[in-house]
Amino acid sequence: MSIAVRYYTESHNTEKLCKAAADAIGVEALTVDTPLAEPVDKLILGSSPYKFAIPEQVKSFLEANKDKIGEIYLISCPALWESSMKYVKEFCTPLGLTVNDNDFHCKGEFLRFHKGKPDANDIAACAAWAKKTF
Ligand SMILES: Cc1cc2nc3c(=O)[nH]c(=O)nc-3n(C[C@H](O)[C@H](O)[C@H](O)COP(=O)(O)O)c2cc1C
Repeated sequence: MSIAVRYYTESHNTEKLCKAAADAIGVEALTVDTPLAEPVDKLILGSSPYKFAIPEQVKSFLEANKDKIGEIYLISCPALWESSMKYVKEFCTPLGLTVNDNDFHCKGEFLRFHKGKPDANDIAACAAWAKKTF
């Protein structure tokens, strides 16, 4: 089974989770600036919300790589939303992409909200999620 990890991050919150998940299963975590070189069975996608939306960089990555993605597993750490699931699904479904309901999400620091999140416990939980899921 082939697995790739791609993420978008501005303040490194989503990156910390994606790197922990990738380390736990022995793959590399790269940003969405790096296209998929080969088709993958599963894509772990790190995408937290910005301005009530999925970042344009994530949308561009998904559109450009959709023919190489088997199934998406989402990691997100929003400040307000519970997860990015609903919005990622809304974008992915018309592209013919499937997002598995088994995602990882926790709170992410934003301004004075959720200071220090994701914290060490969240990062360990994300690594455990990846080990159990993949
Ligand atoms: C400009 C801006 C807009 C944001 N908009 C949202 C939002 O609409 N909903 C939400 O839940 N969180 C929102 N957030 C919070 C981020 O999703 C959260 O801080 C996340 O952990 C950032 O991940 P990153 O550090 O990997 O970029 C916003 C953060 C910023 C800086």
